[in-house]
Order: sequence, then structure tokens, then C-alpha cells
Amino acid sequence: MSVGQRAIASVLICQGCCCGHLEKGNPEIPRARLEAAWAGRQLEGTVRLRFVDCLGPCKPANLACIKTPLTTVWLADLADVGAYDELTAWAEQSQDLGQPAPLDASLARRAIPPPQDGA
Ligand code: FES
Repeated sequence: MSVGQRAIASVLICQGCCCGHLEKGNPEIPRARLEAAWAGRQLEGTVRLRFVDCLGPCKPANLACIKTPLTTVWLADLADVGAYDELTAWAEQSQDLGQPAPLDASLARRAIPPPQDGA
């Protein structure tokens, strides 16, 4: 993507009061790994990565949102590094396509209905 083009999507990773808190029984969020992946693959210009405060429901936890110009997909139960790596893979695919990629089956099965008071 050339300088000055707009991002085609954003990935919001919830890192609020519950998501990623081991003491609350939720798996850790591999923030440094995600940031390194985004930087190493120069994804930020195409797919923004943001770590945000509580997105709303807390249960299920370890939430993420994929926001595109047309839709917001809510994901939950990102339970391990592999699940977060799937987000990186999705961002790479989107960058290659120049538009938001379809979710693969592994990410799609983590989709939840939008929380009523969510972002
Ligand atoms: S802390 Fe993630 S939804 Fe509340």
C-alpha cells in the first residue's frame, strides 16, 4: 500500500478489565507478538491494529472486533496464540487482496452476535 492510502480495516483487540487477565481465568493476550507481526509485515497502513479498553460483554472474554467500511465482526474466545495469529493471517490476506478478506473457518467459528451496548 502506498503512503496516503486509507486503511481498509481495523482490528480491535480488547484488553480491558477481563480480556487477557489470567487472574480472571482468561488467556493472556500476545500483544508484543501481534505488534511485532504487524510491524514486521508492514500491515498498519492497510489494517490498523488497536488495543482497546473493555468492549462490553466480558463473557465471553478475549474479544476482538474486525471493523471494515461495511461491517463489524465480533470475535470471542481467542484462547491462545494461534487464535491471535489467525488475525495476523487475515490482515496479511486482506493486504494482499486490497480489501477485507473473507474470514477463514477457524476465525468464523469464533464470531459472536454484536453485544447490545458494544462498540
Ligand atoms: S474486558 Fe474485554 S469485553 Fe470486557
